[in-house]
Amino acid sequence: MFEVLPPLAPDPILGLSAAYQEDSNAHKIDLGVGVYKDEQGNTPILNAVAQAQKILLERETSKTYITPQGNQGYIDNMLSLLLGEKSPVLMADRVAAVQAPGGCGALRILSELLVRCNEKTKVWVSDPTWANHIPLIGSAGLQIETYPYFDKDTAGIRFDAMLDSLKKVEKGDVVLLHGCCHNPTGADLTKAQWDAVLEVAKEREFLPFLDVAYLGFGDSLEDDAYGVRLMAENLPEVIIAASCSKNFGLYRERVGLAAIVTADTKTRKVAQGQIMSVARGIYSMPPSYGGALVDIILSDTSLRKDWESEVNAMRNRMKTLRAMLVDKLHENGADKDFGFINEQKGMFSFLCISPEQVREVREKHSVYFVESSRVNIAGINQQNVDTLAKALVSVL
Ligand code: LMR
Repeated sequence: MFEVLPPLAPDPILGLSAAYQEDSNAHKIDLGVGVYKDEQGNTPILNAVAQAQKILLERETSKTYITPQGNQGYIDNMLSLLLGEKSPVLMADRVAAVQAPGGCGALRILSELLVRCNEKTKVWVSDPTWANHIPLIGSAGLQIETYPYFDKDTAGIRFDAMLDSLKKVEKGDVVLLHGCCHNPTGADLTKAQWDAVLEVAKEREFLPFLDVAYLGFGDSLEDDAYGVRLMAENLPEVIIAASCSKNFGLYRERVGLAAIVTADTKTRKVAQGQIMSVARGIYSMPPSYGGALVDIILSDTSLRKDWESEVNAMRNRMKTLRAMLVDKLHENGADKDFGFINEQKGMFSFLCISPEQVREVREKHSVYFVESSRVNIAGINQQNVDTLAKALVSVL
């Protein structure tokens, strides 16, 4: 049977890790998959997570199934983190939510739910968007369209073109927006731009689908929630996929949240049952461990403070690395102004160089990053930044 399957090219992001592992160059640099790394190139377990693991080990007395929606403490804490402690939609009991296996799990079950609502639903995604958005949403059977977002020539957002395109979106269409730290470009909407998108959403009656995978990595945990809160507080319906992979460093534990803001409590109750039934039909219930850790951290004042400081430290370090790269590129004679890297936010930057240049820097200098020219800023450190800048300048 399986001989009919065609061979596939490696995944554009995850495939880079395998290629990097096989490279024997002692000076190779990995700026591929979006994981945070410290100065030594390690992805540490956050201190707050290590503490929570000890607490969980003491506290957990059974490995029986958890409830179909997941850990309710985790869900409630995550909803407050995303929507705010005093969120009007939470107070009005308008939010259905389940713990999901990672941000990917959340994106997929929400997409499946959209198919249940209307199998002809169109989802508009930014051009460009995270490489896995299209398979995750498209494989659920939804139709994908793109709206203009980023201009490689100016290294900025094509906001007028984006708005013009959203003004043509039809009622009931879904528009995927990156809550903060746009993946892959690092180019985020300003608050005024979010406000303008909200007005178009009201006018066209489209449904915003917020993907929030990097909360706290842009400006702050509060500021980064601006877009998601704005949409949730001002529209009757919004859908949200969130991930704890990056800001809790819980990548392999697969911790995410799928939430739906509904028009009223009656719809919320039905949507809750539907989303649990979607999950039951795919994986039954989410893994318990990571969600339990996040619940412990967010429920404990002192651990929560520790975690917030660790998020702030990761964000500030990535900002420093951006500045270091820009300076080194300049010092090494780059004839292009890379100052835009300092304006971009979160874990990623788009270097705005061509796929040929990306391949050349990989083949000649063993520097690994996504062909779109997306680099993982957290892969830079004091030791490799000079080599990296020289390698990049050599292919410009
Ligand atoms: C990334 O964008 O590199 C991460 O979100 C990892 C992944 O699954 O692609």
